[in-house]
Formats: sequence, C-alpha cells, structure tokens
Amino acid sequence: MTAPTVPGQGPGHDHASAAVAIAAERRWAILVGLIIASLLAMMIFTGLHWAAMPPSRVETVDVTTLHIKGEFVENNLGTVIEPDGRVIVRLIAQQYSFTPQCLVVPAATPVTFRGTATDAIHGFIVGRTNANTMLIPGFVSTFTTTFPKVGEQLMPCHEYCGTGHEAMWARVQVISPEEFLMRARASERVSCVPR
Ligand code: CUA
Repeated sequence: MTAPTVPGQGPGHDHASAAVAIAAERRWAILVGLIIASLLAMMIFTGLHWAAMPPSRVETVDVTTLHIKGEFVENNLGTVIEPDGRVIVRLIAQQYSFTPQCLVVPAATPVTFRGTATDAIHGFIVGRTNANTMLIPGFVSTFTTTFPKVGEQLMPCHEYCGTGHEAMWARVQVISPEEFLMRARASERVSCVPR
C-alpha cells in the first residue's frame, strides 16, 4: 500500500509512521464497520423473519367467557390425569393471584401446564426448575416439564402486572408418583394438603 501524503510533512521518519498509523486506523475502521453492518443485517433479517413467520402454534381463548364455560372454568383447574394418562395442570392468573393458589404435581413424570390470564400479562417460574412461562389474556400458554425431586417450590409471578405484583405467588407441591397416583385415584382432581 502506498503511503498517503500528509500535508506539511516531508519525506522521512515522521511521514512513514504517520502512514502506518493511517493504514492501521483504516483497517480497524473497516473491521468495526463490517461488525456493525453484520449486526444490522442480523437485526433486519430476524425482524422480517419473525414478522413473516409467527410462532407455529398459537392457541387462543375467549377472556370474556373464561370463568363461565370451557377448559378454564374454576372446577376444571388444578392437576388431573387425562384419560390418555397425561398429567395436566390447568391454571389461570389474575391481579394478584393464581388459581389454584397451590398446585400438586408428581415427581419424575412429564407434566403439561396449560395456563392463561384474565386481565394483564402475568408469568410464573417454579422454584429452581425450568418451568417458566408468560400468561397472556386471550392465549393459552403450554409447556411440558418434569420435576426431578419431591418437595415444595414457590411459584412467583415474574411479569410486572401492577401494584400487587410482588405479592402474587403460588406454591407447587411435588410429591412422589406413587402418592400422586393414589390421590388421583381417590379424587378426580388432586389438590394441596397442608404439610
Ligand atoms: Cu402477576 Cu406480576
């Protein structure tokens, strides 16, 4: 690369080092420019990609009739064993509580959560497990997870939902699969017992 002429400087040592500095600065400017351009390209690509392709499974529910009919009426909430053997937990969130306030699930068994919200965006995480989702009015959130250990976990709301947000939490009792089966046979819906 030929050194560009620096005004006011003749040939010599100063001129050569100035040319080296300019070349180095140009290299770094090009590198930074390429990094910024690739970040911008990624942002534009992911933005367009997600706008063009919404999530593959969106399940909606009518908030106005949530309490009156359908899957999320009060006596259908909680944990059940479905006819096909799957363990399903149904819950709803509202300012500022979960219904039910205490969930029972079996350990070492896949458990599917199905939840929604009535008023604002809520969310929950179960203790130190990977059970973690948002609950959005009008949509059913669902995921399946397995709780490895028996024990009681706290389940706080983790989306800011109003002035009572920090007081919004429920409990999850993880019991042994044998005890869960026994209690599921005794009653259709398994609910918490004081322990
Ligand atoms: Cu509900 Cu925060």
